Amino acid sequence: MIHNEEALKQLEYIELLKEIVKEKEDELKRKLTCQVTTFGCQMNARDSEKLLGILLDAGFVETEEDDADFVIYNTCTVRDNANQRVYGRLGALKSHKKKNKNMKIALCGCMTQEPSVVEKLKASYSFVDLIFGTHNIFAFAEYCVRMYSENKQIVEVWDKTDKIVEELPVARKYSFKSGINIMFGCNNFCTYCIVPYVRGRERSRRSDEIVAEIENLVKDGVVEVMLLGQNVNSYGNGLDNEVSFPELLKKVEKIEGLERIRFMTSHPKDLSDELIKVMAESKKICRHIHLPLQSGSSEVLRRMNRRYTKEHYLELVDKIRAAMPDIAITTDIIVGFPGETYEDVLETVDVIKKAQFDNAFTFIYSKRTGTPAAAMEDQVDEETVKKHFDLVLSTVQEMARTRTRRFEGREVTVLCEGINEQDDSYLDGRMSENTIVHFKGDKSLIGTLKKVKLTDFHGFYYDGEIVD
Ligand code: 5AD
Ligand code: SF4
Repeated sequence: MIHNEEALKQLEYIELLKEIVKEKEDELKRKLTCQVTTFGCQMNARDSEKLLGILLDAGFVETEEDDADFVIYNTCTVRDNANQRVYGRLGALKSHKKKNKNMKIALCGCMTQEPSVVEKLKASYSFVDLIFGTHNIFAFAEYCVRMYSENKQIVEVWDKTDKIVEELPVARKYSFKSGINIMFGCNNFCTYCIVPYVRGRERSRRSDEIVAEIENLVKDGVVEVMLLGQNVNSYGNGLDNEVSFPELLKKVEKIEGLERIRFMTSHPKDLSDELIKVMAESKKICRHIHLPLQSGSSEVLRRMNRRYTKEHYLELVDKIRAAMPDIAITTDIIVGFPGETYEDVLETVDVIKKAQFDNAFTFIYSKRTGTPAAAMEDQVDEETVKKHFDLVLSTVQEMARTRTRRFEGREVTVLCEGINEQDDSYLDGRMSENTIVHFKGDKSLIGTLKKVKLTDFHGFYYDGEIVD
């Protein structure tokens, strides 16, 4: 039973799109193909499943090829190189489109929320048929119907929304695991970050809706969920009579048949003792926490508006490890923030060593127009950044290798996720701590949890053997 008026309206558009697709099929005497390419984070990956869900429902068939009849790029703009990759690939799409006059191209996601990007697309990329944003992604079917009936570039970008529209078709990439949006947007305004501008203010979904969605997924074969939000620790803020994030986790834990719970991303300033307690007592919450550090220098953190210090971060790590000694802690680090000195970088290196991260994504600072950091003086020169980046990266890699080794020889439970790409008699499994294990196994095991003995360590993954 669908309650949401907007969802009902969109389902009607899907019906109209079906008719259009059918007509085109009759004309071309073949199926229409589509391809959805995701750039960026898990939130975008989840959005892409929604886009593909609508297209498959309307009658398209999926292809991997860039010359599909309908190509959708779901973009990311967190760093400028993400934008550059999209522009690069659009150039190639233009030549495909010259060969296939039926071809349509759509662009959505975080990049299209930037007015300067939309201006550029209008001026120089007129072959892009449809441009829409993150706030109105639910209206994709409606825009597709318009795209096939109007012969001009359609631009539909909203600067905000208070709507949350779920309950539309979703094509999940995996049958046994799924992301679930629990909140959208971000209120933190870290000074380097464009996300609050392109994803808007924080909005949480109702916990009963989240639980109902997960229950349905479990009925459909899902055993692992990843609760998604830019800052899951502030879940529920702004909603009346709503539970906190740790309480939401407790509700999700009760869902029968669900085996594993993950979540992403946590902000150190909001991570509560209550959350640590709930995690430690849980049988289902995975032993992995992604806790972006960004910098180990309290002064840089202050200018980043992160609202915690080096000491606070390290205390938090100690508290988490005291409650769950084996937990994997991963992080994000930015190198080259304006004004960052060699001494600041040494502080970051110090935190990496003390916190003993299992892994860290290390990024070079990217200047994002409109953010406070873009206007800061003393942007660091490229050569210095490169040197600092290499130092941070080598420390991270050494730490990850040493730290991940701790499981060698142990028996662990893995979720069998797929056939190994190099050798199809092997499967890839994922430990609760997020480490990958390769082991001999049959594809019938995909989606199940298995006990595996970790035999050989290979730097960041293990080889293992099934033991039961
Ligand atoms: N430059 C480099 N990295 C950035 N991130 C966010 N904004 C920027 C930027 N302007 C990184 C942060 C964040 C991750 C998702 O992307 O480390 O945690
Ligand atoms: Fe960006 Fe900071 Fe929000 Fe993360 S918490 S999305 S880094 S503003």
